[in-house]
This record gives sequence, C-alpha cells and structure tokens, in this order.
Amino acid sequence: MSVLVTGGCGFIGSHTVVELLEEGQDVVIVDNLCNSKIEVLGKIEEITKRKPKFYQVDLCQKEELNQIFQKEKIDSVIHFAGLKAVGESVREPLRYYQNNLISTLNLLEVMEKHDCFQLVFSSSATVYGDVKKLPIKEDTPFSTTNPYGTTKRMIEEILTDVAYANPEKWRICILRYFNPIGAHSSGLIGEDPHGIPNNLMPYIVKVSQKELDHLTIYGNDYNTEDGTGVRDYIHVVDLAQGHLKALEKIRKSNGIFIYNLGTGKGHSVLEIVQAFERVNQVKIPYVIGARRPGDIASCYADVTKAQEELGFVASKTLDDMVRDSYHYVQKNKTH
Ligand code: NAD
Ligand code: UD1
Repeated sequence: MSVLVTGGCGFIGSHTVVELLEEGQDVVIVDNLCNSKIEVLGKIEEITKRKPKFYQVDLCQKEELNQIFQKEKIDSVIHFAGLKAVGESVREPLRYYQNNLISTLNLLEVMEKHDCFQLVFSSSATVYGDVKKLPIKEDTPFSTTNPYGTTKRMIEEILTDVAYANPEKWRICILRYFNPIGAHSSGLIGEDPHGIPNNLMPYIVKVSQKELDHLTIYGNDYNTEDGTGVRDYIHVVDLAQGHLKALEKIRKSNGIFIYNLGTGKGHSVLEIVQAFERVNQVKIPYVIGARRPGDIASCYADVTKAQEELGFVASKTLDDMVRDSYHYVQKNKTH
C-alpha cells in the first residue's frame, strides 16, 4: 500500500516524501507543479536512493485523480497541495478559493469512492489570527484575516463535518504549522520562492546572496523583548517527521485530531538575523521600517498536545535552521 502525497514536489511535501521513503513506506506524488519543479524528484531519489511514483495532475481535475486511485493501491493521503501566498490571496481570492477548496473536495470524494479514509491535512497557525493568549492552544477559536487563511479554516470545517458524518470510517489529522524554515541537510531540497519573497527567511537568504541589498525589519516597537516580531520557527525536517507521527496516529485510531506543529519557542526577527550572521559568517544589512499591515507582535505554539498524543517533539535548533537554509542556497547558486 502507498501513501499518496499531494503537493509532494513542494517545500514541505518534498521533505516529507524523503522521510516516508527513508522509513520504507511507498509513495505516490500528485502535483501539478504550479509552484515547484520536476527536478525535485531526482533530488529525492539522490537522497533516498528510492524513486517515488509521480503524476503531474491538477487535483481540480477529479477524473484524473480518480484514475490514479484506480491504478495505485493507496491507503492514506497527506494533502499538502494548495496555494499559500497571503498577499496574492488578497488580490486573487477566487483563484485561492477555487484551487484550495475544489482540490480538497475532489480529493475527499475520490477517497470515499475508493474506501480510503486516512488523511493528514496541512493547515496553518494563520487560522488563529491575532490571538490574545500565548502560547496558542488548539482550542483557540478561528479568526482568519485573509482569503488564504479562510481556505484553511473552511477546509478544517469541511473535514470536521465529513468525519462527523462517518466517524467509524474517517481518520483525519489536521496539522497547524507554525513557521517552517531550514532545508534538508544534504542541501539538495529546500525552499525556492519565485520573485521577491514575502517571508522572513527566504528574504534573509536572498540578502545573504546579495540578490537583495538589505532586509527591512517590519517594526521594532512591538511589545516584545527587543521590539521586533516574534514567531515560532520550526525546521522543515522536524515538521516532515511530524507527518509520520500523524500517520501513525490515524492508522491506530479513527476520528479527527488537530495538532499544532511548532517548537513552542518564539524568536524575534533580530534574533533570527543575528543567528544567521553568527552561524553562517555572513553579514545581513538591515533597516528598521514600518510595521507590516496585518502583522501581529507574537505567535508561538503550545506544543503539549502534539507531544502527549503524537509523541512529537521538534529536535532541531535555531542554529540548525539558519545553517541549513544558507547551505541550501549556497549549494544551489546559479551564478
Ligand atoms: P509549496 O507551494 O512549496 O507546495 C505546494 C505544492 O502543491 C506545490 O508543489 C504546488 O505545485 C502544488 N499544488 C498546488 N495546487 C495544486 C493543485 N491544484 N493540484 C496539484 N498540485 C497543486 O508549499 P509548502 O510550503 O510546501 O506548503 C505545503 C502546504 O502547507 C500548503 O497547503 C500550505 O498552505 C501549508 N502551509 C505552509 C506553510 C509555510 O510557511 N510554508 C505554513 C503553514 C501551512
Ligand atoms: C506568514 C504568513 C502566514 C503563515 C506564516 C507561516 C503573511 C502575511 N503571513 O506569517 O499566513 O501562516 O507565514 O508560514 O505572509 N519580517 C520582516 N521583514 C521581512 C519579512 C518578515 O521583518 O521582509 C518579519 C515579520 O514582520 C514577522 C516575521 O518577520 O514578524 C516573520 O514573518 P513571515 O516569515 O512573513 O511569517 P508570518 O508573519 O508569521
């Protein structure tokens, strides 16, 4: 039996495929490559010496997805595929609702049709919005502030209804990621955003390569230790391993489960810049700018539930994260 990994060529998906293959599981990837490259497959093979099956299919094409389930023996699905850029979702809401919701509805229908009821879903800490109480627990009410976040909230609600309608069958694990950064230690796979990045680590990486001349720190007047924004950064390999724990969980128990995946520790923007400079011996010029609209001061996870129920504890340090992010870009320089 195989695990179907939707979006398996993307940043988190590719790292999870590596962990699955290294654990001896068989993998079928479905990805339309709208935000990833086919070359990732060769890199996965180079790391694991195993070749995942691959279908270049858009999940919005239900019949094509159905045919994959007819051909392959799939007993569980990890669903990463989706569009994820917050700003873009504000400008193009329909594309986000269309892609993220239709693909998930198709997937659920086809899974039911083929008696496949084990699903791990990629959600995000963005479903919590601007919370008042830290660290953030899973029972914090939803509060989304952009169409991307709302697609995640809506999908979580759809999954809850689906599990409620058929509790004996469905086994669903919703994972709310905090801020994934870093890359595989081989430097073969990592994060490769198009254009000017919005997120902190990809931006710092581009400054380290002198592709951008400085970082703008969005505000140093927050109510945090040094005034800059605090987030819960988690190494993508730790995050990938969290998916194996989630699969283990739903293979044993039916129902629907929700977990935060983070480290439980917050780091400020300045701490990230300083760690990046110290570990990689490279200068990151920065200026202090205005706050970014919609940003919050602090966001970090309460990780107790994932620790107690999944046995998941992130093991990599901030130094590992900044080292691996830099190693990936150094190894994949095109100039
Ligand atoms: P990514 O863009 O690198 O990977 C997503 C993959 O899905 C891409 O390879 C893309 O080509 C594919 N895809 C998109 N729509 C598709 C469709 N309709 N059919 C088939 N393939 C499709 O993103 P990522 O960072 O690896 O994120 C994976 C998931 O985790 C996403 O659902 C994202 O919303 C969620 N998430 C990411 C973060 C983050 O910071 N990276 C944080 C929280 C949640
Ligand atoms: C972003 C997403 C969020 C997603 C999360 C995890 C946005 C608006 N939100 O949030 O939906 O769940 O990633 O992937 O994109 N910063 C700078 N300068 C920069 C970039 C960022 O100072 O050039 C600061 C931000 O103000 C923030 C921190 O760095 O304090 C992290 O920012 P970012 O990487 O964009 O992540 P989030 O804001 O947590």
